[in-house]
Parts: sequence; C-alpha cells; structure tokens
Amino acid sequence: MTTTGQGRTDTGEVNGLAADALSGLWQDPPRLPTKWLYDERGSRLFDEITRLPEYYPTRRETSILRVRSAEIARVTGARAMVELGSGTSTKTRLLLDAFTDAAAPGQRFAYVPVDVSSEILTATAETLSADYPGIDVVPVVADFTESGLSLPDADGIRLAVFLGGTIGNFDAPARDEFYRRLATSLAPGDFFLLGTDLIKDTGRLVAAYDDAAGVTADFNRNLIEVLRAGLDARGLYADDFEHIARWNPREHRIEMWLRARRDVDAYFAVLGRAWRLPAGAEIHTEISTKFDPDSLRKELEEAGFGVVSTWTDDFGDFALTLARR
Ligand code: SAH
Ligand code: TRP
Repeated sequence: MTTTGQGRTDTGEVNGLAADALSGLWQDPPRLPTKWLYDERGSRLFDEITRLPEYYPTRRETSILRVRSAEIARVTGARAMVELGSGTSTKTRLLLDAFTDAAAPGQRFAYVPVDVSSEILTATAETLSADYPGIDVVPVVADFTESGLSLPDADGIRLAVFLGGTIGNFDAPARDEFYRRLATSLAPGDFFLLGTDLIKDTGRLVAAYDDAAGVTADFNRNLIEVLRAGLDARGLYADDFEHIARWNPREHRIEMWLRARRDVDAYFAVLGRAWRLPAGAEIHTEISTKFDPDSLRKELEEAGFGVVSTWTDDFGDFALTLARR
C-alpha cells in the first residue's frame, strides 16, 4: 500500500499524514510515525548519515556482510530475497553478489526491496536491474508496519532481510508483533537475516545520533518540513526546533526528540486546526533500541524463529543474526 501526505481522499476521508498528525500531534508528548522522516529529502539526509564518522552501524554491518555473504547464500540456498526498509540497498549489494556467484547456470534470483520512500526505491531498483542482469528486481512501495503486508511467493526458499538496526526503531511490543507477522508470512524453512546495533559506551551511542556536522539534526528536523509541506502549515518552522538525542538506560535505547526553542503557534490548513507547543516542550520522533545478543535470541525464539548463527564485527559493535522459521 502506498502512503502519501495527501490529506483527504476523494470520499473526504482523512488519510496518510493528515490522519497520523491528527492522532499523534495532540497527544502528550506529541508524536508521529517515523516513516514520515523518509520523504525524498529525508532519505537523502539518512544516506548522508550512513557516511558520517560518528555513525558506525553502517560500516560495522558492512564489514560483517563482507565476511559472511557467501556463507549466507550457501547456507540458505534462497531463490528470493525480500528486504524491508531497503533504502539505497548499498550494503545489500554484497548479498546480491554472493547470490549471483552461488546461482547455478541459468537459474534466476529474485530481489524484492520494500520501502515507503518511493523515489529512492524506484531509482535504486533501476540501477540494480542494470548492474545485476541475472537478478529479477521487483520493488514494492509499502509500509512494513501494516498488517496487510504479504511477502511475494517464490519457487524455493525465501530470505527476509531487515538491516541497519531498523528493528530497533520499534519498541518491544511492536517488535514482537513484527516478528510474528513475518513468521506467519514466511513458510517453515524460510530464513530471516536481522541486523541489530549492540549496547555499548553511551558517549559513542549519543554521538552516532547527534553528529558534529549536524546532519542528524537536519534529518530529525526534516519532520517539521514534511508536516509544513504536507499539511499546509502556517507558523511552523524547522529552525524553531532543536534536535535532542538521549540515552534511556532502562529501555537501552536512544530517544530522539524535537524541542521547541520558542512558543510555536501553528495552523494546519489541511486539517483546519490550530496547534500550539510551548517553548521547551518536545515532540517524540524516534527510538533506536540497542540489543544484547542473548535477549535478542530469546525474543526471536519466542516469535517462532530458530537462531542459526549470530555474527558480530571485530569490534563487537553490531550483530547480524541468521534465523530460520
Ligand atoms: N536498510 C538501509 C536503510 C535503513 S533506514 C540501511 O541499512 O542503511 C530505514 C529505511 O526504512 C529507510 O529507507 C526508510 O525509508 C524505510 N522505512 C521507514 N519506515 C518504514 C515503513 N513503515 N515501511 C517501509 N519502509 C520504511
Ligand atoms: N535505523 C536507523 C537507526 O536507528 C535510523 C536512524 C539513524 C535515525 N539516525 C537517526 C532515526 C536519527 C532518527 C534520527 O540507527
């Protein structure tokens, strides 16, 4: 299903961004589903984050994939790979290379990248199709949190892939629901490859989500731009918000907020509603949960997966888990 910030449908129903704003912005604290961070500008900013010196997860996960991709192709014997939240699929190329090398002559492999960010997804799929003539690239614009999400059929084993520590953007109940739904859409014997960031020194964690160049701050503040443009908001400006990244030791997660630098007095023309946020008040935008390998194994097993292998990088910063339904 495609989600847009269109406001009202032909039938007058409030949908997409408008519905999420109505149900989220008047809560205490105000919040919005994190997929709204990833419009075209947001996706470009996220791509920039992955190359920041402070943002170690992408480099660490890449180093694990470099060592393990051939083994993943061999052990799973998958004929199709579905990737949730694929973005630019940059790291995924290591897996695509490995599956290409492992394929029998004439045997085709399917790659199904799934993402809400349609521009990046479409552009990425075109490039991948050209670079991998032996792979059928079938992009799907969809929200992976929606209950209707079904995985495409394949004549053979399927591998579901969820990289980048994106699973950490769910809280524990949402993770459990996500695993169970995924387990239901996979067949027994299918595989699930999951990337998770690990608990570590708080200073490094906070720096990864509050970099010196301010790219993460711009990425977070882009949510205000998305609201302003999508809901035709007057009096709402990204510069009036400060990016906050805090470590929550009890929930072992980074929490991202936007704090009003002054009283915000906005009017959403699309909603026909005024919205106020006093100076110092905060909008909750994102969490990024960090894991320890043992409790991760437990939560996967409780949801119906058997852990086949857990690999970490040389620094013990990040983990890649191969599980089987
Ligand atoms: N896999 C990439 C990108 C991770 S960032 C990496 O590891 O670097 C998270 C990705 O998930 C973005 O591409 C974003 O557009 C996508 N995304 C976020 N929320 C989503 C949702 N609800 N449904 C589908 N895709 C989503
Ligand atoms: N999946 C990424 C992560 O948790 C998303 C992310 C990185 C993010 N930096 C961010 C989300 C800053 C919001 C704000 O690492």
